[in-house]
Amino acid sequence: MDIIRRGRLKKQIDESSLEFLQSLDADRWIFDADLLVDKAHTRMLLENKIISEKEASIILDGLKQIEEGGIEILELEAYEDIHACVESKLIELIGEEAGGRMHTARSRNDEVATCIRIALRREELKLIDYLNDLRGTILKRAEENVETLMPGFTHLQFAQPTTLAHHLLAHFDALSRDLERLDALYHRTNLSPLGAAAFASTSFPIDRDRTMELLGFEGLVENSMDAVSARDFLIEAISVFSIIMMHLSRLAEELILWSSQGFDMIELDDAVTSTSSIMPQKKNPDLAELIRAKTGTVYGDLTAVLTIMKAMPMSYNRDLQELTPHLLSAVTITKSSLRGMTKMIGGMRVKSESMRAKLDLGDLMATDLADTLVRECGIPFRTAHKIVGEVISEGRRIEELDEATLKEALDPALSVDRRKVTGGPSPREVRRMIDKRKKALSLT
Ligand code: ARG
Repeated sequence: MDIIRRGRLKKQIDESSLEFLQSLDADRWIFDADLLVDKAHTRMLLENKIISEKEASIILDGLKQIEEGGIEILELEAYEDIHACVESKLIELIGEEAGGRMHTARSRNDEVATCIRIALRREELKLIDYLNDLRGTILKRAEENVETLMPGFTHLQFAQPTTLAHHLLAHFDALSRDLERLDALYHRTNLSPLGAAAFASTSFPIDRDRTMELLGFEGLVENSMDAVSARDFLIEAISVFSIIMMHLSRLAEELILWSSQGFDMIELDDAVTSTSSIMPQKKNPDLAELIRAKTGTVYGDLTAVLTIMKAMPMSYNRDLQELTPHLLSAVTITKSSLRGMTKMIGGMRVKSESMRAKLDLGDLMATDLADTLVRECGIPFRTAHKIVGEVISEGRRIEELDEATLKEALDPALSVDRRKVTGGPSPREVRRMIDKRKKALSLT
């Protein structure tokens, strides 16, 4: 029971109310960060003579015991939150004479804001790693498939030939923008709110720059009221995660379609698929399906945090606590989805024969035919478009072109080869794009 801070209140907190106030998983997530903050704050108090050397050393010793014992030695369920719990444990271990001084010039409001930023920036670095693993894997698969012809789609209808490498690079480029977003997010996350105390800072002569430096922050969230109440970094994080998940979900959707019998373009590795409990023949893309589904959960987290924040007056309100579990949910899903996607892309078998065979169906060469008419007969593209449309719908023969030219116009490999413009699917252009991206990737 929390006995150290209920001086004003004459009763212990009601049991179910305590449960309602808690947010245990999110608190476990910030436990390490809380100890870092406690240590940095204590050192700063000492350096500025707000506590004595002896008191600081007793406190740091107690914190070390808690660190070594780990979260298991805490009775987290008995407290409102991790901050109260750690402070109480400290006082239990070293007594109130020294332990009771740790919270000088501090509030849980600046403490929790600092902890979330520390825990989140760590996750952001992991996400950057996982994202780069996926980008590297996509690039490798693209490199292997520069000449792999496949039907390109618009409206999910066969449209024009392209290559698998060209298609994969489109996903790569989207994920590269996600990387830029994560990078910007990291720098906005990595700022210290510590020293803001409840919201109006403190009358003790603390040094905010010092705790900022000790905790590896790049700067301060300067205004003490903004410092405790701002959560836009967290909302921005879930927004960035939502965009990453949207990209993963689109890719997942394609893996689901492409591995189905109707498309028959890839086969996913056995290690990342499931089977059916009744149909022995089944090999299902459950991992891809769950990435697609969990994208919805992350969007839900985003909607939740935006809605929780929208009418909150300055400065700290307990509502803020309700944000953290959504951040934890979104970050956990995004991490595991990135790893799952890397495995699926890395292990998928490309059915290049089956992909190539589709190019003989569905009139994918119609644009090339119209382009050839323009080139050979000097007619406007709109006229050529009409002629080819008739050829397809009425099955009439094309008399305007000789056999050899017609054959060339209808060759999918040549079609792809002809598209040499910047960003196009011709193998030479795709190789150029891959080389450029490989260089950029090796720098990240
Ligand atoms: N667990 C709380 C949170 O996540 C810590 C801050 C509590 N502060 C307070 N004044 N009740 O926001």
